[in-house]
Amino acid sequence: MSDQTTKPWRAAMVEIARRSVRFGVAGVWPNSLAGRTALVLAASLTLVQAAGLAIYALDRMDLLTLAMQRDAAVRAISLYRVVSLSSPDGRRAALATAEQDGGVSARLQADPPVTELAYTAAAMQRQFRADMLLVPLPQEQRPREIAILGGPQSQRFVIGFRMEDRLWLNMDIDLPTPRPWQSNNFLAAFLLMAVVATVLSVWAVRRRIAPIGTLAAAAEVLGRDVNAPPLSQEGPTEIAAAAMAFNTMALRIRRFVQDRTFMLTAIGHDLRTPITRLKLRAEFVDDDDLRARMLNDLDELQAMVSATLAVGRDITADEPATRVDLVALLRTLLDELSDTFPDHAEHLTYTGPDSLPIHARPLALKRAIVNLVQNALNYGGLARVSLAPVRNGLVTLLVDDDGPGIADAKLEDVFQAFLRLEPSRNRETGGTGLGLTIARNILRAHGGDVKLENRPSGGLRVVVTLPV
Ligand SMILES: Nc1ncnc2c1ncn2[C@@H]1O[C@H](COP(=O)(O)OP(=O)(O)OP(=O)(O)O)[C@@H](O)[C@H]1O
Ligand SMILES: [Mg+2]
Repeated sequence: MSDQTTKPWRAAMVEIARRSVRFGVAGVWPNSLAGRTALVLAASLTLVQAAGLAIYALDRMDLLTLAMQRDAAVRAISLYRVVSLSSPDGRRAALATAEQDGGVSARLQADPPVTELAYTAAAMQRQFRADMLLVPLPQEQRPREIAILGGPQSQRFVIGFRMEDRLWLNMDIDLPTPRPWQSNNFLAAFLLMAVVATVLSVWAVRRRIAPIGTLAAAAEVLGRDVNAPPLSQEGPTEIAAAAMAFNTMALRIRRFVQDRTFMLTAIGHDLRTPITRLKLRAEFVDDDDLRARMLNDLDELQAMVSATLAVGRDITADEPATRVDLVALLRTLLDELSDTFPDHAEHLTYTGPDSLPIHARPLALKRAIVNLVQNALNYGGLARVSLAPVRNGLVTLLVDDDGPGIADAKLEDVFQAFLRLEPSRNRETGGTGLGLTIARNILRAHGGDVKLENRPSGGLRVVVTLPV
């Protein structure tokens, strides 16, 4: 019956305990490898130190108890001496005037302090007899019997000395509990040692684990720029091996990209001659309509080939990154576009700060932004370029237009190479469908990105983010 009532309680208690342990662990357990290693190290160091301290303290307490017992024994014997040396009548008076301190309180009685338990503490008996020798006492004055209750490690014991006149001098001895350490500085020193050990282990672990962070950062940079400089291969063996493996992988990726690009440009290059030849031959077609359509197709083909070659040039060109004023770059680019399209000059506007230095490859960045502004002009009739204030180390560049925008489902698709929503490939409204692909490639290589949004008031908004 009672078992049935206690069971749900017990289950609930176990569950609460398990949860609090789990929460406790989850609350303290750090996420980073450095944090976890440092925590384990610091915890083990503290544990080892605490165990050492406990062993020391226990040993010290044993020793201290022994010393206090010896001290009390000597005091008890001295008291006995004072009392036993006085005349039998004056004993009570002698005891009253004698000094009784240090946890010893004595009285004269007719019986021993203990009965059946007496004489059991043989070790103490021996010790008392030995201590007797420390206090000079004539032979006839020695106690006839000693009765002790208490063990070698006890803090309290009772002792009785029988004198020659059959009276017992009984004493209660109450020793103070020994402290594991004497001074408060000891605890402070222990805490200081634990803190220093923890700080040192955190520092050492962070230093040892730092190369993992470097490796992660290098992988991040490689994702953006295949031509990123290789990692240093120095340091402990494992780290050097990881860096070497990483560098080899980066080299292979670089070669792979180069081979692909080379293949692309080689095909583009080789296609140019047959296209030119075909164009010449098409001129000889008699049917005007057929000739016009053939020439149109060939023009389109030629434009695609040129664009392909341009992409290849972009990838292989390793323009150095420098400090560039983004605003100056935007103003130049808008001026150049105004010169190229004089009809659209007043449709190209810029709002934002007067200067904003960033770290970038100026020619590549310009090509990316030109593609975006030109799209706004071609498909939206105007381009409003603006710069938002820098936030979290990123600057946001917006290119807005008043055109039809792009269906929400297609906002990402248009970044695919050669994808155009407008099926005609005529010269007026654009080219090959590579503009956004190129722009995204370049911006991502800068550590930024580009995405498209439809503005609620109509028109497309291109959002470019770039690290400052
Ligand atoms: N601002 C815009 N408004 C509406 N549609 C757009 C806009 N920008 C791009 N698009 C659509 O996205 C497609 C892809 O654009 P992208 O710039 O990649 O190629 P393109 O402009 O057609 O050719 P290219 O830029 O290579 O000369 C365009 O064909 C167009 O249909
Ligand atoms: Mg375009």
